[in-house]
Amino acid sequence: MTIVGSIVEGNSKYLIMRERKGADLELGELVVIDDEKRKYICMVYNIEYGVLLEQGRLYTSAGTIIEKTNPKLEFPNDDLRIFRKIYLKPLIEIHNGKYRSPISIPKLFSNVRRVEKEDLSFIKEPDTKVFLGKIRSGGRILDFDYYMNGEEMISHHTIIAAQTGRGKSNLVKVMLWEIMNHGKFGILLLDIHNEYFGIGNNKGLKDHPNADRYLLYYSKTPPPGHKKLKVSLTTIDPEDLFGIIELTEAQREAISVYRRQYKEEWIKELMCKDLSNIAQSTLRSLRRKIGNLFRIRISDSGEPYCEDEIFNFEKIGEKTIFDIANALENGKIVIIDGSSIPDETGLVIMSAIMREVFRRYENYKDQGILKDKLQIGVVLEEAPRILGELYDKNIFGRIAREGRKFKIGLIAVTQMASVIPDEILANIGTKIIMGNEMKKERLKLIENSPQDLSDYDYIIAGLEKGESIVSSIFTKFPVPIYTPLFDDIAKSEKEKSEIVVF
Ligand SMILES: Nc1ncnc2c1ncn2[C@@H]1O[C@H](COP(=O)(O)OP(=O)(O)OP(=O)(O)O)[C@@H](O)[C@H]1O
Ligand SMILES: [Mg+2]
Repeated sequence: MTIVGSIVEGNSKYLIMRERKGADLELGELVVIDDEKRKYICMVYNIEYGVLLEQGRLYTSAGTIIEKTNPKLEFPNDDLRIFRKIYLKPLIEIHNGKYRSPISIPKLFSNVRRVEKEDLSFIKEPDTKVFLGKIRSGGRILDFDYYMNGEEMISHHTIIAAQTGRGKSNLVKVMLWEIMNHGKFGILLLDIHNEYFGIGNNKGLKDHPNADRYLLYYSKTPPPGHKKLKVSLTTIDPEDLFGIIELTEAQREAISVYRRQYKEEWIKELMCKDLSNIAQSTLRSLRRKIGNLFRIRISDSGEPYCEDEIFNFEKIGEKTIFDIANALENGKIVIIDGSSIPDETGLVIMSAIMREVFRRYENYKDQGILKDKLQIGVVLEEAPRILGELYDKNIFGRIAREGRKFKIGLIAVTQMASVIPDEILANIGTKIIMGNEMKKERLKLIENSPQDLSDYDYIIAGLEKGESIVSSIFTKFPVPIYTPLFDDIAKSEKEKSEIVVF
């Protein structure tokens, strides 16, 4: 066990160690201090020079070297007066086999060593686990799989935040892959880039050994054996529009009037029939918005029809919303290919599904049978506006605020956590923070995290692809992890299943 330093200063918030020459610790690394009775796990969050010499001598010496006047280093390499000071943040204290946030500090001159996977044995594998990645010490990946309890993680909501290309979608794929091992959660996902299912030779959730049992894929152009996305507009409720597209008060009222009068035919009638109590100007702009949303055209004979084969006014696809709600209740992952429809249209479909799921789960709660039902989650990708300015009008904001009581949770994936109101962020129990160079984004996440992440700003800025910090109300400390590449996980699963036993 190599000692990398010795504690010389500090308090309960931070410790400073003198680094042993050549130990070469890096930011974000985890180190361990074994005190007599207690063990501490700390993270490196700052590195400084330590010099016990007069500053003038240092500058003069550097000058002789760079100006080549009389180049000689005045101090030998092993001069004890020159060293590196490493700032450590105590994360965890382990005492009598129990771990907790530190309530003590180690003795002065305690030895410090690098973390080993055995040091993490206090982290137990939860039930209905969700694999997030391997624990990381700075850039070093430990052979220690990190799981969260999926029930806790989904019911109390999760946000995955990073700037583009840092591996958010990869992480969601890895999580869903694990969920498909047990089929204990129903997950709805609108796939705006069509990257989760795995089209053609691309690896995706379709390659999971349980895909037949636990995966449903709806698309405008599905591969053989998968569902064609068809939704009857009779199953869309005004509520599904209210929090997704911008509507004026007058437009909302007009929608309600049509709904009352024409029940489930409200969209059709709104598109072609004028009502005397609704202003023409309101109707015109409303028809334009709804027409764009569902690609509705008016035939020469004045009949509305949908140009896009996904929607129709007839009964085709009138059970789609219902069927998807059933699938979610049965622990399936439902992917809706949103790549060939506008984002808002996909969100309206998601909203209709989640409204149905919410209605059912509310009923189950009233009947006292909710505890027997599976946890449901909805993945909301790149929809900061939906959780931002419109959150109090849509089902997703409602899920964020009260879904926990009904076993319905959010997994929000975003580059723009800064536009999500604090009220929503505060309700999100788990924050998975990936690399982000935007200070504003980092600060918003740091300020709204369950743990004190004030020393992590610089570290978050430098996280590489797949690296993240998991800050959760269910973990005692912010856990640094690396999520492997999904393709490697899918490949190794395939290789496992191909091993022939003689
Ligand atoms: N853990 C990882 N290790 C190595 N490479 C990775 C990892 N995760 C993702 N990548 C690579 O980075 C690229 C971007 O990843 P991904 O699509 O998951 O990012 P993203 O954060 O979802 O981006 P966007 O904001 O554009 O949706 C991918 O092509 C993938 O190959
Ligand atoms: Mg992505």
